[in-house]
Parts: sequence; structure tokens; C-alpha cells
Amino acid sequence: MLNLTINPIDFNNQSNLTIQPPASGLYLRGLLSIPGDKSISHRALMLGALAQGETQIQGLLLGEDIISTANCLRSLGAEISDLTAETVLVTGRGLGQFQEPLDVLNAGNSGTTMRLMLGILASQDKRFFNITGDRSLRSRPMSRVVKPLTQMGAEIWGRQNNNLAPLAIHGQKLRPIHYHSPVASAQVKSCLLLAGLITEGQTTVTEPALSRDHSERMLKAFGADIHTDSETNSVTITGGNALQGQSVIVPGDISSAAFWLVAASVVPDSELTLKDVGINPTRTGILDVLFKMGADITIENERIVAGEPIADLRVRYSSLQGCEIAGELTLRSIDEIPIIVVAAAFAKGTTIIKDAAELRVKECDRLSVMATQLNRMGAKITEHPDGLEINGRNLLSGAEVETHNDHRIAMSLAVAALQASGKTIIRQATAANISYPNFFAHLQQVCC
Ligand code: S3P
Repeated sequence: MLNLTINPIDFNNQSNLTIQPPASGLYLRGLLSIPGDKSISHRALMLGALAQGETQIQGLLLGEDIISTANCLRSLGAEISDLTAETVLVTGRGLGQFQEPLDVLNAGNSGTTMRLMLGILASQDKRFFNITGDRSLRSRPMSRVVKPLTQMGAEIWGRQNNNLAPLAIHGQKLRPIHYHSPVASAQVKSCLLLAGLITEGQTTVTEPALSRDHSERMLKAFGADIHTDSETNSVTITGGNALQGQSVIVPGDISSAAFWLVAASVVPDSELTLKDVGINPTRTGILDVLFKMGADITIENERIVAGEPIADLRVRYSSLQGCEIAGELTLRSIDEIPIIVVAAAFAKGTTIIKDAAELRVKECDRLSVMATQLNRMGAKITEHPDGLEINGRNLLSGAEVETHNDHRIAMSLAVAALQASGKTIIRQATAANISYPNFFAHLQQVCC
């Protein structure tokens, strides 16, 4: 049984977590229902709020980022029922019908909330909005969406040349553009598609590689006039078509399943089944990376639910090998790189991660934080400007480590602690609530 305690009092009002595996070791067994996909949950609430009529959402993630999106939309006049209900109901206001909120909108820690909302707000003609976020979000670059929105005629002001929140927005009737995005980013693409929804004419986004395509799938289901061109990685929306409320079923988040895929792969004698996980091909880089490392994962019961492919994933312990992760594989596993670093630390040989500079502008600098924190536990990780080199199979020992209030760092370090000798103290471990509120309960449930 895992000795796991969450201390009630701590630095910065956040909880510390202590993990101490028994000296005789532990293994993971059981079946887990993975909480709803964060990207799809944001989009279901936003499209529901922009649609006419009622949207019913099953399996919505109840993480803090989603609560931020729901609160922004409520301040704009959308009706959203109790988020803890099995089915969440959204009564939409229709395109271009959001009201001026009485206060500053707060996106909390959520980059997706802020960047996607900017596309919606910029296109609400003649209304004023302010949006801010927590300390981490206020340091993350917004010019990647502010610049193309400005080309569409948007008026947005912020610190450091309109790059940093808080941001002030004066909604306008926008004009369509064809934007060639320098980064493959679903947040940039989705922001412009949402702005294009109400903009007369055709708004097109071309990206250097295909980023996650949940917006395209869901916009189509809600009745938008949207076309994708897979040869050029372009998507075009023709503005003016009203959205109609839909029934959405949110699959389990493969980014959350990733922690268990790695935990069961590195802890001997483990076997876990993860139910109803989204396996959209733009998100399955984690499976490809783990297969490359020699993981024992089977994909069972594949099916399409509400326009998204899902499956059950069964994972058993196996001896992992280091590998190289670069290019499109890095893009398709970008949110899973922190937990991949943990897998690499336990794998035989060297793992090289390249083309991952984007990780430096996530909730924290994930390259630097994973390297410094795992090295504190005895790992051998060298940092490069766009990636990491991990020399695996060094015995890890418990240490006091910092999450920098980043959910994916908190859960990655917790998985590392399962195979470390002695006690690991994870500071600000409750950051996990951003995307996986019951992560530590699930951890206790599956540890034997
Ligand atoms: C997301 C897109 C990705 C991802 C983020 C969620 C989304 O970010 O890392 O966690 O829901 O659109 P980028 O668009 O910056 O690549």
C-alpha cells in the first residue's frame, strides 16, 4: 500500500504531497475511468455558448481550467448548469450576442481559455472586454493570436506590445484573412476559426503541421460551414452560419491517461486498464513514443463516439528502451513530454527529445523544470535550447521537488516517486486539479 499524505498546511497556501513507496516495492493494478478531455471540454462549453438552443455535455472535465472557461462564458451571458452534474446543460446566446461583462474575465491558469476567448471577444461588435489570468498565464505570449486577430481588424491592447495579459478588447466587425501560422498550434487555429464564425467571407488558417483538430470536428457537428484540406494543413470557415446546440460526449483525456501509461510501464508487475480514452490521431503521439520505447500497450474496443475516436487502453509493465523524439512526433505528444521524460529516466539507454522549445512557454518552462526536478532525484538529464537528453536507468531516490504550480509537472513527479527509494515531497501538488482533480485518489486506488 502506498504511503501518500497531502499535508494540510504549506508554503503559498498550496498542499504538499508526500509519497513513500514501501521498501518492498509496489505495483499498479486495476481499471480507471479517465476524466474528460480538457481540450474538448473547453470547446464544448464555448460552442454551446455560441450556439442557438441547448447543448448537453456528458463527461465534461471538472478541472480548474474548465471552471475558468465556464465562468468567463457565464459572465458573457451564457447559461451553464451545475458543472458537477452528469450532464451539463448550456443555453447558448447565438453568434455575436455576448453581453459586456460587469468585471474583468479571468482565465485562471488556462492558455486555451484565454487564446480561444480572444477570438470570440474580438468579434463581438461594439462591446468592451478585459481578460486576465494567474501569474503563469500573465507571462505567456498572446501575440501569436493578437497579431493575426489584428490583421482581421481586431482592437486588442496589452502589456509589452500587446503580448501579455491583462488584455483589453474592443469588439469589432472583423474581415476574413488567410493566415499562415508560423507555429502548429491548435490554440491559434481555433482562435481564428472562432473569430471567423461570425466574420463575413472565408477565414483560412494554414499551419506548418496539423495540430489537434477537435475544433474542426466539433464546429462541423454544430453546423458551421468548415472545410479542411489535409494536403496543405489548411482549414477554412465561412462566416455567418448559425450554430445549433448539440449533444456532446467528451472522451477521456489521453494526456491524463499518459500518466498511467507510463506509471504501469515503469513499475514492475503492473497492469492497468484505462476506459474510454480519446485516440484522435492528432493526440496519440504518446502511444507512438511508448511503442517506440518497447511498451506493452493494447488498444481495445475502438469506436467513434460523437465524432471522436475512443478506445480502452491496457498497459502492462515492460522494460523500456531510450529513443529519439523529434518533429511531428514531438508535436503530437507535446503535452505528454513531462511524463515521457519520466519514462526515459527509467528506460535503458539515452532518450533525445528535440523540437520541443514550445514547452518553455507552457504553464511553466517544462524543459527546465523537468530537468532540474528529476535531477534532484538522481536522474541524468541535460537541457538543450529545444529539448532534453536523458540518460536512463539511474536509480532515483526521494527528494523535495517543486511543481512550479504546473499540473503536468505535479503528476509526472508523482509517477517518478513511485519508483524512487525513500520519501519524495512534492510541493504544490494540488496543481493537478487543473486537469485531473482525482489524480491522487486514483493513484491510491491502483497502488498495491
Ligand atoms: C491546446 C493546444 C495545445 C496544447 C494545450 C491545449 C488546445 O497548445 O499544448 O495544452 O486545447 O487547443 P498550443 O496550441 O499552444 O500548441
